[in-house]
Amino acid sequence: MAKRVVLAYSGGLDTSVAIRWIQERYNAEVITLTLDMGQPIDLEAVRKKALDIGAKDAVVVDAKEVFVNHYVKRVIKANALYEGKYPLSTSITRPLIARELVKTARMYGADAVAHGCTGKGNDQVRIEVSVRALDPNLEIIAPIREWGFSREEEIDYAEKHGIPVPVTKKSPYSIDENLWGRSIESGILEDLKVEPPEDPFVWTRSPMSAPDEPEYVEIGFERGIPVSLNGKDLPLIEIITALNSLAGLHGVGRIDMIEDRLVGIKSREVYEVPAATVIIYAHRELEHLVMERNLLFLKNSLENEYAKLIYDGLWFSHMREALEAFFDVTQEVVNGTIRLKLYKGNIIVSQRSSPFSLYERSLATYEKGDIFDQKKAEGFIYIWGLPLSSSARKRGKKP
Ligand code: ARG
Repeated sequence: MAKRVVLAYSGGLDTSVAIRWIQERYNAEVITLTLDMGQPIDLEAVRKKALDIGAKDAVVVDAKEVFVNHYVKRVIKANALYEGKYPLSTSITRPLIARELVKTARMYGADAVAHGCTGKGNDQVRIEVSVRALDPNLEIIAPIREWGFSREEEIDYAEKHGIPVPVTKKSPYSIDENLWGRSIESGILEDLKVEPPEDPFVWTRSPMSAPDEPEYVEIGFERGIPVSLNGKDLPLIEIITALNSLAGLHGVGRIDMIEDRLVGIKSREVYEVPAATVIIYAHRELEHLVMERNLLFLKNSLENEYAKLIYDGLWFSHMREALEAFFDVTQEVVNGTIRLKLYKGNIIVSQRSSPFSLYERSLATYEKGDIFDQKKAEGFIYIWGLPLSSSARKRGKKP
């Protein structure tokens, strides 16, 4: 049985109760680990809370740079949207948490790690598969899955053990947040007949109350990564922060979807992802300008594979590395700027430009200056359609 456990600690009630529960159930020491990935969090307060509850030590890590540079950037290059919609904002934090859990366990000579995921979601899978890939010898403890407390029993347990229970009425929603997005579920959202009410939204205005004047944003890309905003060079993290408030103000980036969880459940999820939505939109526009047709289509099909793989918790797979190697080559030409108009929940493309642009006006034009030799089309069409005309003749196709 585990003697020393590193627990992924958010500072919320579940993982706070888990500190004591693990100590009692396993008679083990608990070290907590909290990562700052841009969620609203007071790291010092979280650290103190963990120690007050009885953690042997409380580690806090500012993981924002790693998160952006090793996780968010890859999602951008791949235009990774699960089921065509969700930019994986929660999903990509789990392998990072797992990696830090394993690192911390090594540092403290711990023989187990623990997390606060339920048994119904994707996150338990992502964390556990990742921990196993990195260190198969670590024991994994999932208190929330094991203890079977009802809400009342959990609060009872907390009160009995002097664990602070939030005095404010608990939000009816389950929320997970970092700088790439905000995931919202449960409460009234479980009723598919109900439109999401305004109260869970924090980053985005309703398109109906968004400003009447549109706003233009211009995003500059280098090798597929945003490097400037409105002509000003900025680190990606600042571009994301700025776009979250700009696009959010204009009602851009709300997603309401029926999502297929890996564990077989269909659930309704609502997301606020303004920067992610705008950046991926612009990135796609630029790719359409600079990429060969066949490559564009192939990349598109692999993007879905990639998004599914990350969603499914297979971050530390060879397949991810292989797909990324492919995406990296495709990004060699993704330089340029995309200007967008944000207006009442819509993104409207305004201008596209790139040194690698494959758009040639002299080929596309119907006006003077046309260099396309239309006569050559005849031979092309004859040969292109040859397999069909042969086969149709054999099969006796009649109009
Ligand atoms: N469904 C998303 C995923 O699996 C988000 C999960 C967490 N959502 C939440 N509201 N706590 O990646």
